[in-house]
Amino acid sequence: MATMDTIKVTKASTSRRGNVDFSKLAFGKVFTDHMLVAEYANGAWGLPEIVPYGPICFDPSMATLHYGQTIFEGIKGYRLADGTAAVFRPEDNFKRFNRSARRMEMPDVPEEIFLGGMKKLIQVDESWIPQDYDHALYIRPFMFATDEVIGVSPSTTYKFMIILSPVGPYYAAPMRIYVEEHFVRAAPGGVGYAKTAGNYAASLHPAAVARARGYDQILWTDANEHRYVQECGTMNVFFVLDGKLITPGLESGTILEGVTRDSVIKVAGDLGIAVEELEIAVDELSDMYNTGRLTEAFGAGTAATIAKIAELRNREQVMAFDPENAPVADRIKQILTEIRDGKTVDLRGWMVPVA
Ligand code: COI
Repeated sequence: MATMDTIKVTKASTSRRGNVDFSKLAFGKVFTDHMLVAEYANGAWGLPEIVPYGPICFDPSMATLHYGQTIFEGIKGYRLADGTAAVFRPEDNFKRFNRSARRMEMPDVPEEIFLGGMKKLIQVDESWIPQDYDHALYIRPFMFATDEVIGVSPSTTYKFMIILSPVGPYYAAPMRIYVEEHFVRAAPGGVGYAKTAGNYAASLHPAAVARARGYDQILWTDANEHRYVQECGTMNVFFVLDGKLITPGLESGTILEGVTRDSVIKVAGDLGIAVEELEIAVDELSDMYNTGRLTEAFGAGTAATIAKIAELRNREQVMAFDPENAPVADRIKQILTEIRDGKTVDLRGWMVPVA
């Protein structure tokens, strides 16, 4: 099996790094000079390789294009205060990736390829790590079915790849969202907990409807009654109620098990903020807002980090939150940023060195 030192690297003849304006990075539009590729066939993974970033070639019958057997992860790499490069909690994304793989009837990707390949790729493109506040190197590992057949069955061949993108903030301003009562993101027994492309494809139309109505995103609710909160757009969601943090629990399997979600819960615990993971009824949120008990709302995700919600609409009711007065979200974001920048003690070893 490959180790980080044996991964073959073919360097790009020239770097595009100098052509990129790092002061104007949008999310996910610029990619680094190299990418990692590994192929699965005959029940085994071949040796991964790092090659110049560029288009890939495939047959029109490639299974992924037809039935969506594909999964991905989102991870971020940072430049620490001591000048070294590190990745935030990559083992957790690695484990979630393989949980997604099993749900989608795909093979597990070995740690040497996922984590070893990621570290090696970042070493090769280390100069692409942005330095500015709220900026990072976004790491996108993904796997897709490559059998050339249009019968509906699990592919026997797969490609695993990692690409890297220097990114700025996902949401530039606090969000306006509304409670979704028509469309459904995930139902129990479905694939809501898996990071698979179809979940995101299915969210595009509801999100477009939201934008046409002047909103940034939607708050997903349960498939049966549209009564209980699931997640917000592409993020997990948190509320501050009576000074404590509440977020939907994971039992239903309809919510993505977010690494940032888990980090928020742990940092809140360190700060002495009580956290409850529970079933949250939208109408209860409305009641709590009316009585002044609900004081903050925010999303949490790798891409978005902590994204404050300025307005949450539940039918005719508008719950407004002041983004300038969100002490819980601000404090948690500050601690997470300090950990990611290597400016505070990393108690749990979340920052994994690239070297
Ligand atoms: C992430 O937060 O990393 C995501 O994958 C969400 C989105 C960019 C698809």
